[in-house]
Amino acid sequence: MKIKLNTRGSSMLKNQTITESEYEYDENICMQSVTDLYGRIVEVNEDMIQISGYSRAELVGSCHNIVRHPEMPDVAFEDLWKTLQAGNIWRGIVKNRCKNGDYFWIDETITPVISNGKVTGYHSVQIKPSHRQIAIANGLYKHLHHSYG
Ligand SMILES: Cc1cc2nc3c(=O)[nH]c(=O)nc-3n(C[C@H](O)[C@H](O)[C@H](O)COP(=O)(O)O)c2cc1C
Repeated sequence: MKIKLNTRGSSMLKNQTITESEYEYDENICMQSVTDLYGRIVEVNEDMIQISGYSRAELVGSCHNIVRHPEMPDVAFEDLWKTLQAGNIWRGIVKNRCKNGDYFWIDETITPVISNGKVTGYHSVQIKPSHRQIAIANGLYKHLHHSYG
């Protein structure tokens, strides 16, 4: 079944303030979030609250694009949703935006949450990527962003 996504508002998100400062966090940080089938956050852990700079109340109920960074190409998320909707696990390096406009990189793995044999949402685990992973993703995303938006 294809799910119609309504996680938009990206034009507004793309106009948000961003800074050139990276939030470099510790390697033992492990952010986690659970969303419904549409990418609306239903649960976050303390690490995600700390790194994103948003409160639990701001995160829960919001679309996961609350942390979207404007330099992330659309095709990365098209790939994410296509992969998840095909019932597969998605893993990727993502540049996210903190509430104050700083950015942080994550190595994100998203798995379907299955209840009574049905996918009811998605679980994301986010850890710190290596400098090499970041450099490769950064180069690729700049190219994709300029080529495709
Ligand atoms: C479990 C889960 C975790 C996600 N994590 C992120 C994330 O860390 N950063 C991000 O920008 N989008 C994330 N997304 C994708 C967003 O829902 C959204 O599709 C993306 O930010 C693109 O925004 P747009 O729909 O406004 O174009 C995640 C989606 C799911 C289902």
